[in-house]
Amino acid sequence: MASNIKGFSKWTKEEKLKWIATTYFSDATEVVPLIKTYWNSDEDLQKLHDEFIENTITNFYLPFGVAPNFVINDRNYTLPMVIEESSVVAAASKSAKFWLERGGFKASVLDVEKIGQVHFIYKGDFKKLARFIDSIQNQFFSDTELLTQNMRKRGGGILKIELRDKTLALENYYQLHVTFDTKDSMGANFINTCLEQIAATLKEQVLVYTEFNEVERELAVVMSILSNYVPNCCVRASVSCAVADLASSEIANPEEFVAKFIQAVRIAEVEPFRAVTHNKGIMNGVDALVLATGNDFRAVEAGVHAYAARNGSYSSLSHAKVEDGIFTFWLDLPLALGTVGGLTSLHPMVKIALKLLGNPNAEDLMKIVAVAGLAQNFAALKSLTTTGIQQGHMKMHLKNILNQFKATDDERKNAVLHFEKNIVSHAAVVELLESLRK
Ligand code: HMG
Repeated sequence: MASNIKGFSKWTKEEKLKWIATTYFSDATEVVPLIKTYWNSDEDLQKLHDEFIENTITNFYLPFGVAPNFVINDRNYTLPMVIEESSVVAAASKSAKFWLERGGFKASVLDVEKIGQVHFIYKGDFKKLARFIDSIQNQFFSDTELLTQNMRKRGGGILKIELRDKTLALENYYQLHVTFDTKDSMGANFINTCLEQIAATLKEQVLVYTEFNEVERELAVVMSILSNYVPNCCVRASVSCAVADLASSEIANPEEFVAKFIQAVRIAEVEPFRAVTHNKGIMNGVDALVLATGNDFRAVEAGVHAYAARNGSYSSLSHAKVEDGIFTFWLDLPLALGTVGGLTSLHPMVKIALKLLGNPNAEDLMKIVAVAGLAQNFAALKSLTTTGIQQGHMKMHLKNILNQFKATDDERKNAVLHFEKNIVSHAAVVELLESLRK
């Protein structure tokens, strides 16, 4: 077992790797070379990756795939997708192709407000507190002027600073709820820096506000931090066509297809167990794009799921209807994304992904990401309500199972031919390989 270790962070990469290998692996002589095969031979590139995080010992690859044929607001895109799960890229591509022939996807940004909060404790008269915050509003803005000047030049900045009384939820708890527009950046650093200045102003001004008594002057800031819940930084993606136009080689009866499809969406609207899986399918597309473009998928995930539960029960992010013979399928997603700052200007593959998308601004990226989520959801629901999910998913997963059993090129060819006519399952692949290897 590893003993407590001091000063680990100061060791070289080689030293850290050696310690990991000898402490946790009985076969250190095999493990070290294996881990090192994931180092990039270009030392500058490797150094760049090493410094993205701390205590880096190697790289961890994820596939970077592409899904062509997306038409979004009449413009053609090929989407970069970084994801480990088979069938996601295929499903996105299949949806894109299906909707390409039916007018493509539409997307629009509903709003772009981001939120940060200064959380504080105050024991005193609320009206007095409200007067105090009112009286220092200008001070908040003037004290953050230097920090916000570039953002204001771009048309963004701090939009609003509101006092919120949260004492019903927690004794003596109040907050400054601050609204920002961070234009093409995700804005986390900008927001947090502004909030810390706002908190400093609050602490300074409270000491000189003459109306406060001793106890009220003890107002204490607990923390200042952005919120990853951004219900007002929201984008809508949709597809729509006449029900009859849904007919295809796979959809013989569009009315029947639509009725079942809408029923599947309704189930996800009312049943949280189903909604979580339904939304996971949406996030297959969203996360793949978010990762490829160097954005923060944890922030997006947390915010999206909070949004899915905003009415008190976890529910579907997407909705579907038929009106006057027109089928519409859409979703709204809160997405705080950036196309400048963070990894976007550092990671070479992120730069490629953004270039592939035509170097979108943040609003355009929000639209593209929401469309990826909708496309994914359409593909999954189409499969679920027709063939079932396993047929397509396992067809794509076949390669992974073959890799697991180190299949030779000949065995692969045989397997592909065999499973054109047979259902793929783990057991069926094992059985085939065993019979081929006899
Ligand atoms: P298929 O009809 O067997 O595919 O679909 P096909 O071979 O006839 O090809 C049709 C098109 O699909 C292709 O057109 C591609 O666009 C795409 P083409 O390029 O030939 O002109 N396609 C591919 N693209 C790249 N590489 C491939 C590939 N194969 C097809 N190898 C497919 C097969 C898997 C696409 C279909 O069955 C499907 O969409 N299934 C849904 C899969 C899915 O949703 N996967 C996500 C993982 S499951 C999950 O996590 C979510 C879930 O639980 C969510 C929920 O419950 O709601 C399901």
